[in-house]
Amino acid sequence: MTAALLTIENLNVSYRGRGHSAHILDGVDLEIGHGQSVGLVGESGSGKSTVAFALLGLLADNAEVSADHAAFDGRTQDFAKRETASLRGTDIAMIFQDPMTALNPMFSIGTQLVDIQRRRFPKESRKALWARAQAVLADVGVQDAAARMHRYPHEFSGGMRQRVVIAMALLVEPKLLIADEPTTALDATIEAQVVEVLHRLRQRTSASMLVVSHSMGLIAELCDSVVVMYAGTVVESGKVADVLHRPRHPYTRALLACEIDPFAAFDPSQDLATIPGTVPDPSRRPQGCIFAGRCPARHDRCSEKPPQQQAGDGRTYACWLEAA
Ligand SMILES: Nc1ncnc2c1ncn2[C@@H]1O[C@H](COP(=O)(O)OP(=O)(O)O)[C@@H](O)[C@H]1O
Ligand SMILES: [Mg+2]
Repeated sequence: MTAALLTIENLNVSYRGRGHSAHILDGVDLEIGHGQSVGLVGESGSGKSTVAFALLGLLADNAEVSADHAAFDGRTQDFAKRETASLRGTDIAMIFQDPMTALNPMFSIGTQLVDIQRRRFPKESRKALWARAQAVLADVGVQDAAARMHRYPHEFSGGMRQRVVIAMALLVEPKLLIADEPTTALDATIEAQVVEVLHRLRQRTSASMLVVSHSMGLIAELCDSVVVMYAGTVVESGKVADVLHRPRHPYTRALLACEIDPFAAFDPSQDLATIPGTVPDPSRRPQGCIFAGRCPARHDRCSEKPPQQQAGDGRTYACWLEAA
């Protein structure tokens, strides 16, 4: 069996505040195989971006991070010390929710798409890099790419900018592509188009992907497996098809019940199921099961922390309920 591209075990992140500390990630495990696409899903505030940023060493200064084991592409990384707690400098590219984060307003798209390739092809001419950039830009669905190469970020719409950022990510040929809510800032039609581009990219590159989203629909479309997060912990993980069709953790079930079917016609008279109660305050993490306060299936045992149960085929879930 070949080792995974990325493995991280028992990732913990706390944010220091004035006189207190909030324990945001509590023992997160994540594994991404070569060429595999993994989704990280959970409500807003569940710590998804914190996971992505921790991997890249991009956490805010008030963050304390640790992990028992972290490895990328066969190299271990020491997450015990802040200076080395990062997989940066490795072949990872990131697509953010807001494409402007990745674009420089001062330079033309063409120049930025050329510059991003310099490290990979230090000896190639600008002309050759320009031609490759233009081809990739056309490939991600930017019409009239030759002319658009000379334009500046503000001359592009949100959806077009996100395509440019995807082109950028493609040009560096990363081993891992992290997309953090890549379509959340876009309206529904544009979102569908960007998903389509990501989908094609997924079929064509050998890169692994980590797709961070609050939407199970997006994950289902783009990923092989999914990791469900709740309040900074992993409550369930497994193959997308298995988790979607037979969710085991009550939180996953609730999350799926909340989701609007992306393929159904919109019916405003239909209420969205919501999960009663609120996410626990991370600075006051309850003992026992983190979801117990909101769980419809809660019982006495839930005052103890549930084990990560294995249910075969890479499936895990942190719940006292017997495998059904
Ligand atoms: N620099 C910070 N200091 C304190 N708390 C933070 C900081 N950054 C994020 N958080 C908190 O961490 C939690 C998880 O945030 P985040 O990872 O962004 O969640 P998600 O991406 O799932 O929406 C939130 O409660 C957020 O308020
Ligand atoms: Mg986020």
